[in-house]
This record gives sequence, C-alpha cells and structure tokens, in this order.
Amino acid sequence: MYDEKTLELIKIVEAKRAENAALEPRRMTADEKDALLAEFHPDYRKDQFKELKIGPNAGEMLPIELVDMLQANSRIKDMNLDLSNPDYDTDVLIIGAGGAGCSAAIEADDKGAKVMIATKLRMGDANTMMAEGGIQAADKPNDSPAIHYVDAFGGGHFAAKPELVAKLVNKAPEAIKWLSDLGVEFDKMPDGTMVTTHGGGTSRKRMHAAKDYSGAEIMRTLRDEVLNRRIPVVDFTAAIEIIKDDKGQAAGAVLLNMETKEIKIARAKCVIIATGGAGRMHYQGFPTSNHYGATADGLVLAYRAGAKLRDVHTLQYHPTGAAFPEQIFGALVTEKVRSLGAKLVNIDGEVFMNPLETRDVTASSIIRECKARGKGIPTGEGVGIWLDTPMIDLKNGEGTIEKRIPAMLRMFGKYGIDIRKEPILVYPTLHYQNGGVEVETDSQTCVPNLFVAGEAAGGVHGTNRLMGNSLLDVIVFGRNAGQFAGDQCKNVTVGNLTLSHVADFQKTLKDAGIESDLVSPKLLPNYVKEYAEEQNRVTL
Ligand code: FUM
Repeated sequence: MYDEKTLELIKIVEAKRAENAALEPRRMTADEKDALLAEFHPDYRKDQFKELKIGPNAGEMLPIELVDMLQANSRIKDMNLDLSNPDYDTDVLIIGAGGAGCSAAIEADDKGAKVMIATKLRMGDANTMMAEGGIQAADKPNDSPAIHYVDAFGGGHFAAKPELVAKLVNKAPEAIKWLSDLGVEFDKMPDGTMVTTHGGGTSRKRMHAAKDYSGAEIMRTLRDEVLNRRIPVVDFTAAIEIIKDDKGQAAGAVLLNMETKEIKIARAKCVIIATGGAGRMHYQGFPTSNHYGATADGLVLAYRAGAKLRDVHTLQYHPTGAAFPEQIFGALVTEKVRSLGAKLVNIDGEVFMNPLETRDVTASSIIRECKARGKGIPTGEGVGIWLDTPMIDLKNGEGTIEKRIPAMLRMFGKYGIDIRKEPILVYPTLHYQNGGVEVETDSQTCVPNLFVAGEAAGGVHGTNRLMGNSLLDVIVFGRNAGQFAGDQCKNVTVGNLTLSHVADFQKTLKDAGIESDLVSPKLLPNYVKEYAEEQNRVTL
C-alpha cells in the first residue's frame, strides 16, 4: 500500500493519464541509443570489471563477481576421489532440470539413449518456471523467420553467431507446435488462432503466451512429459566438476548431494550442461528476477573442463523489476505490461521514452531518468519510475488486466496495490546472462561430447536478448542438444575417467599467483554471510 506522500504523487500521473495514453513516443536514433548505453548501461561501468587471468578467455575484462568464481578453487581440490566404480552409468547425463534440461531429456530419450538428469534443487526450479511474458515464433501470415532473424540479430547488436540465430528463428514455429502438442495451453482467440503481442524490439506481433505465467505453463508440461517417460531425475544433487576421460572427452560429472554432502560419480558418453543463468550472482549489487539457484554454475564447470566462453561481459537488466514494495524488490514485472499499453512515466508525469525500445536501451533510459535527471520517484529505500498500468484497461477495455496479466494483478494485490487503478514503481533488475559457453549449431562445445543448452550457452543473443527469445532458446536448443547428444552417444567409447584437468587448473591458479579463499561453482547464494558482511561494513 502506498503512503500519503506517494498517493499525492500519483495524482500527477492520473491528471496526465488520458493525454499520455494517446501519445506515440518516438523511437531513439541509433546514435542516441549508443550514447545512452555508453553512459548509463551497467555493462559499461569499467570499475565493475576485472581481467580474467587464466583459461581460454584469459585477458578478457569480465564482471568482477564472475572472474572471482572462474578463478576460485575447485570444491574437490582436497578430495581423493575414486572414479573406477561410478555410482551412475548412463548414455546422456543432463545437468539441470529447467526448460532446456527437460527438453534435452525428452529428445535424447526419443533417440533411444539412456538418459539421466541431475539437478541441484528440484525439477522445474529454474528461470524457465519464472518466465512470464511469452515465447517468440514467426508463425503468422504477416511474419517470417527472416523478419524474426533481423529483429533478434539487430537487437543483439549484431554480436550473436549468425548460424545460431538462424537456427533459433527457423525452428521457432516447430517449437510452438511441439509444446502445443505436448499440452501447453497457449492463449487463443475464439476461432483457435494464437493470440500474439509485441515485445520490445519486435517488428511483428509474435509473442505467444499463457497469460503472464507462460514459463510456468511450459515447465508444467515438460515436467509431466519427463515424469511420464520415467526418465530418472536425481534431485538436490549438484554437479561440481565435469569428469573427462583419457582421450580428453567429457565423460561424466562429480555430483554433490546438497543435503547429505555425499559425493557421487556419474559416468556418461555425453554430458549436457543446462544449468541456466546467473541472477543470484547479484552483479553490481542489482536485485534479480531469477530463481534461487541461478549462480552461473555451468560457466564454471565448462570453463574448468576447457570450454570457451563468449559475450559473458554482457548482462541483461530487465527494465521493469518491482521497485516497491520491498517484499517483491527486483521481482519481474513482465514486459507484456508495456506490450499491452502501459507507459513509463517520471515524477512530473512525463512519458520520457517509447516503452518498447529494446531492454538495454529501456533500462538505461530509466537509470538516466532517476540518476542523472533526478526525475525518479522515492520508494523509501531507493528510487523508481512509474509504470502506468491503468492505461491498459483504458486502452483495451475494462477486464484486460484481469484476463491478460492476472499474475501481476495478484502479485501487487497482495500488498494492497490494485494495478487496475494505481500505477506501480519499477527499476531495472538483473534478469539474464546474454552470453555463456560457446557452442556450435549442434550445441557442442570445443570439448568433445560436452554440450551446453539454454541460458548457460553463449552466442545465440549477442549482447542483448529480446523478450521471448529465451523461452524459445531453451526449447529450440534444449531439444537440439538432446537430439545431437542422443545420436552421438551411440558412437562414443568412454576411456579411463580422470579429473587431471581439475588438478591442472589448480596448478594454473597457483602459477598465476592467484590466491582465492572462494570455492566454485557457487551453487547457492549465501545471503546470511553477505548480509553479515554488509552490516560489518556499515559499522566499521
Ligand atoms: O518481461 C518478460 O516477461 C520477460 C520475458 C523474457 O525475458 O523473455
């Protein structure tokens, strides 16, 4: 519930609502966008980056928190593990049970491979589950994969691997059909055609959604399918190192039971990393829209095994994280709110930008409005910008909010804010890892038999992802990895298992003079420790 002072400020927004709703704010020019990003996007804050000293990406300037994880000690550093008698033996080992992991499992199972999933929390504890706005696919008569390609490649600043973007967009219509056939309840018109909307940076309406819980609906369906197929899922079990064989191929993983701390060894002919994103790294101190386990584990595992990373210097700060109330600070306010017509408004009631610019531009514009122009709205602890949600029903008719974005209505309603009548306060939140482990079109890394899919993979989105291309990525490339690994495992002979690459990594750290008291992968955020450190800093 807003306090009296904030309710007074809302009157300014209300007074200009009708006029603002009718505005068609112009798009920024390319030069304006470049200047804005350089000055206000967090990716350009040089003091938040440091040089990575070891491994295939040595010499690159990367986020401090990520470098600290890539240069931390292995969790098995002081262990003497017996690899001769594995606890699990499978064809395809999938690490992670979100959208990409489950899609991979279903496809590898279809190929006849013996599949096993290991996941550090439960199946579906993943960013896929938390995705709201929808999934892109050019399957309407006024659209085409070629137009989708131009939007995605341009939106990513032409930094993606063209062949990966081509695969993403060409396989999109088939992905929607696959999901639909599995049972995903997409929003449809009375005549059965899919409802589609715009997202930031899309030139056609191609966002398919299940209201504003699209990810939960997709994850529900995938999880059912994995369970129906009786694919084994070992939950609460994290991968902490990739195992290789004496031929240099990926050949399994060291697993850690998160509850008992027992170590288990899994041998596999092919390994698929599908560990998701990194929001819980809280880069630059940003809050996050991500699930609890999003700690960049896949990047650490793959890097120590010798794989290359790409575009990991770039993160996506979703423009509209909840800035108030503090109980939902950083939670995702779906872009669909803006697709349906809500505009971003400053403290003076001015619409300061087109709300459907790409995410990096929108986030930077909000930061500029608050930090440089002093036009943000005080939230108590911080600052935010109005997202004028009542414009949605004004524009589309009463009942639209309730029908199209019920999760948003409920999330704010719990705190006494009725988004049909009152605007909400938003500020950028850490949402997505644009880059990841470099893969080829078969989803394979430069380490033989090591595949990566979903948010942990790099090269699909360049340096900025468009809304709805992440759910698409996890489905298209999750399936892709499962299909290729499912075929490839038939021709793999696993040699003697080894962890010598981990010992080599520790030696490289030592030779480079890097002394770290950290271990990685991080696995979970440690809020108790971080809060204590913060308090300590404050009292010093
Ligand atoms: O705003 C959203 O609903 C987020 C979608 C996405 O990241 O693709």
